[in-house]
Amino acid sequence: MLTLFFISLFLILVLSALLFKFAISDGDFTLLSRRHVKREEIEDKVVWITGASRGIGEILAKQLASLGAKLILSARNETELERVRKQLTGKYAPEQVKILPLDLTSGEVTLKEAVEKAESFFPGVGVDYMIHNAAYERPKITALDVTEESLKATFNVNVFGTICLTRLLTPFMLRRGRGHFVVMSSAAGKTPAPGQAVYSASKYALNGYFHSLRSEEWKEWEGGNLKEIAIESLLCQKGIKVTVVCPGPIETSNGSGATTSGTKVSSEKRVSAERCVELTVIAASHGLKEVWISYQGGEPPARQPNC
Ligand SMILES: NC(=O)c1ccc[n+]([C@@H]2O[C@H](COP(=O)([O-])OP(=O)(O)OC[C@H]3O[C@@H](n4cnc5c(N)ncnc54)[C@H](OP(=O)(O)O)[C@@H]3O)[C@@H](O)[C@H]2O)c1
Repeated sequence: MLTLFFISLFLILVLSALLFKFAISDGDFTLLSRRHVKREEIEDKVVWITGASRGIGEILAKQLASLGAKLILSARNETELERVRKQLTGKYAPEQVKILPLDLTSGEVTLKEAVEKAESFFPGVGVDYMIHNAAYERPKITALDVTEESLKATFNVNVFGTICLTRLLTPFMLRRGRGHFVVMSSAAGKTPAPGQAVYSASKYALNGYFHSLRSEEWKEWEGGNLKEIAIESLLCQKGIKVTVVCPGPIETSNGSGATTSGTKVSSEKRVSAERCVELTVIAASHGLKEVWISYQGGEPPARQPNC
């Protein structure tokens, strides 16, 4: 009888501890179980970050520089990229950090040039990690009020530019037999986000593309001759990795101390940009396929109406 009592007490304590851990956690359990960055997966690696001129991208640059990565920073605003570069410290920073101004909406020819430049920056080594962090996000607006211009602007940056860059860079990675795409998606790419329908749609599109990419077929033609027998394998079998990161609300600073998403400040509990980046780098270094970053006690996902 006494044994049964102690077993029950033990189970209740374990359950309470788990519930407490869940209540205060800021990421999914698989992610949180990987406590530390695998530094050897980051140090000396070439990491290309888009959207590095502010917000989460700027913090990514800081943390990755201090972990000893060789960085390539992209965004449209070259002055801001220089400002970020000057602040970096690490094995290769700031001196060897490369600035590659880039507009994701500039079309395939320009993006191809950017990929070739990025591949040539560090002699003998190409891009190991491509962090797709840049995004276009408008203040909240109802789905029916979204203009065609805004719809196109969102998809041109978040989807078409990002996919185009991926398609152009992947062949270089395949030739080397390794390459890792880290995609800053969003919780809005997994659950409905009223007021952000277009942004949400763009992130759903990214999730679909990148989860498919991993298992796309790759055909190698023996002797480079298309008539010869092809060896088919999946991109993941050829060393291509994908980590999709789905953050909920993140507290970022735009340099003036205000949140970049200042128009939608609410009571929701936000994870700091530093913590979001720390977890992102842990996820990437452990090769996790998809991770969630958000306080469980934050704003609940939008309820689906009964109609
Ligand atoms: N903040 C959040 O609460 C939150 C939550 C979930 C997911 N996310 C995701 O996390 C990522 C970073 O968010 P953030 O809040 O740090 O964003 P942010 O502060 O708005 O920064 C966006 C970045 O994208 C760049 N960018 C915008 N348009 C571009 C274009 N046409 N070509 C190239 N670069 C362009 C911007 O630089 P330029 O203007 O210089 O080009 C800037 O560096 C985004 O993918 C976002 O969707 C953020």
